[in-house]
Amino acid sequence: MAEVTDSEVTDETNDPGAAPYGNFIHYYTFNPPENRLSLIPTTLLHDVAYGTESSESILLLDVGCNSGDLSVALYKHLQGHNSRGDTTERELRLLGFDLDEDLILRAEQTNPFPENITFIPLDITHDASSRTQLESYLARFGRSRFHLCACLAVTMWVHLNHGDAALLQLLSLLASLCEHLLLEAQPWKCYRSAARRLRKLGRNDFDHFRKLEIRGDIAEHARKHLERRCGMELVRSFGNTTWDRKLLFFRRCERKQGEL
Ligand SMILES: C[S@@+](CC[C@H](N)C(=O)[O-])C[C@H]1O[C@@H](n2cnc3c(N)ncnc32)[C@H](O)[C@@H]1O
Repeated sequence: MAEVTDSEVTDETNDPGAAPYGNFIHYYTFNPPENRLSLIPTTLLHDVAYGTESSESILLLDVGCNSGDLSVALYKHLQGHNSRGDTTERELRLLGFDLDEDLILRAEQTNPFPENITFIPLDITHDASSRTQLESYLARFGRSRFHLCACLAVTMWVHLNHGDAALLQLLSLLASLCEHLLLEAQPWKCYRSAARRLRKLGRNDFDHFRKLEIRGDIAEHARKHLERRCGMELVRSFGNTTWDRKLLFFRRCERKQGEL
């Protein structure tokens, strides 16, 4: 049977016409959290919190969190190995956001850890207001950056709907707001199938599909932008997901000359 990806969904209600931002209502029935989590080391918090104040909460940001299933699963996945070595756990906090308010409502209603996991509606392409909202969350914990930001399966939707500049802006914004970034960028073949499906449905093309200059190896374009423009460096790849997408782990390097 042909592999199904988030741009090739068979369910009518889940087609990109009905979910033009990848805001599929049953996303986790066809892409269960385990598909990605199995690649992420459970000890990741040791890396992301290494050298930071042990009394501080560890702050995670989940970009485009959909109905929150992966956010909660990621929280549990990492929390299980969240210890300083002296058996004391550091508090883990996760902020998930999505532009789809219905999905956020579902995430809130099913949130098993409302004390520590927060979901908010937010469109990350509204650059200034997003920054304000995310910074005000950080300020509650006396921080200017998240320890870790997960941006999984979101880049293509921003890219297709808002264009090249918006993709780069997204990466720059996230890089400025986090110490570590976990990135799963959809490969170019997914763009083609998302656009093809839209055409088959007789709908207009994505606003920017034909005009995109950033194409081909999207993960490589993202890496170059993060390393050359955003003061991040690729630490390692956690491998490829079942949908053959790379899971890349970046960290902020020492501030470089010229970087804001
Ligand atoms: C394919 S789903 C991926 C969900 C989750 N990140 C994961 O990997 O399991 C893409 C999600 O990104 C959200 N999204 C797309 N564009 C967005 C934007 N500009 N701001 C916030 N969320 C966005 C969609 O609503 C959708 O829920």
